[in-house]
Amino acid sequence: MSKLVAGNWKMFGDQNMLSEIKVIDQYCHKIDCEVAICPPFQLILSAHQQTKNIKIGAQNCHINANGPHTGEVSAEMLIDVGAELILVGHSERRQDNNETNKIIKQKAEAVQRAGATAVVCIGETLEERKADRTLQVLQEQMLNCLPKNVNPKNTVVAYEPVWAIGTGLVPEIDQIRSAHSFIRGFLASTFGAEAHNVKILYGGSVKGSNAREIFSISNVNGALVGGASLKSSDFIEIIKAAS
Ligand code: 13P
Repeated sequence: MSKLVAGNWKMFGDQNMLSEIKVIDQYCHKIDCEVAICPPFQLILSAHQQTKNIKIGAQNCHINANGPHTGEVSAEMLIDVGAELILVGHSERRQDNNETNKIIKQKAEAVQRAGATAVVCIGETLEERKADRTLQVLQEQMLNCLPKNVNPKNTVVAYEPVWAIGTGLVPEIDQIRSAHSFIRGFLASTFGAEAHNVKILYGGSVKGSNAREIFSISNVNGALVGGASLKSSDFIEIIKAAS
């Protein structure tokens, strides 16, 4: 299956940075992988209007379509301005906003209801890995965060070990392989044949210099990239490794 390289800009980026998105979009003319950028909310519409070859996504949404929820944005509203995929359950939101598996599932359902692709983020903390609980944590998160219907169009799973995010630390190849193979097994046994084509992304300190090796691991169908997605030249190196 074709790989997906998605950039998560987190809370970085102003209108000047739309030029980076344009450079990435131009590079992505005629490549054989999918590319997406999830900028902060205020850039989604302009990014969508100024791109042809890549998808634009969002980093979060509310569980409802609309209502008296000051300061919130719904999946429907994000789609209205061009978002095609929406991250849910990023570990920074689990930590900073106390998002639980239950809330994350409701958000993933909201994304599906609206008709976009939910990128459901899962991953263990360093403490959990040291206690040899990684696969158990991944299973709990998948059991409790994934909606009833999961198929390649409505869902992507992103495996992001919390300790690898923004730290420069990358798991051993075998650790990535074993987590991704476990996730694939869970998806296949829970959602059936279609789940074989659900993309599983790796995220956590991916950069141009390690992307090729990470993409060669079985069941790694792409990457969710933070820091190295903010500069077009860095991000394009990762896209090259995937295409
Ligand atoms: P870094 O690539 O900066 O480690 O961030 C990964 C991430 O959190 C993507 O969602």
